[in-house]
Amino acid sequence: MEKKVSVKVCLGTTCFVMGSANLQELIDMVPKKYGDKVDVSGVPCLGLCSIDWEFSKAPYVKVDDDVIKEATVEKVLKAIDDKLAAMK
Ligand code: FES
Repeated sequence: MEKKVSVKVCLGTTCFVMGSANLQELIDMVPKKYGDKVDVSGVPCLGLCSIDWEFSKAPYVKVDDDVIKEATVEKVLKAIDDKLAAMK
């Protein structure tokens, strides 16, 4: 089976307030850009904001098992590109 990169955009309250609303465009953009090589979904709180709250680095996005802090569309696309490059 072909390996896929999994992208989880946190849409929990903290991440949402800290800007994950902007990241929702990834949910449309990623399938258009990468086709079925990448699965992207919005998920409820990943539980990271409570651990890291003091130095809050929300919004968080998970790309496979890697956590991207203070995620932006650019950072997430870069992480996906790195993962896909590493799979080849
Ligand atoms: S709301 Fe995103 S990790 Fe909690």
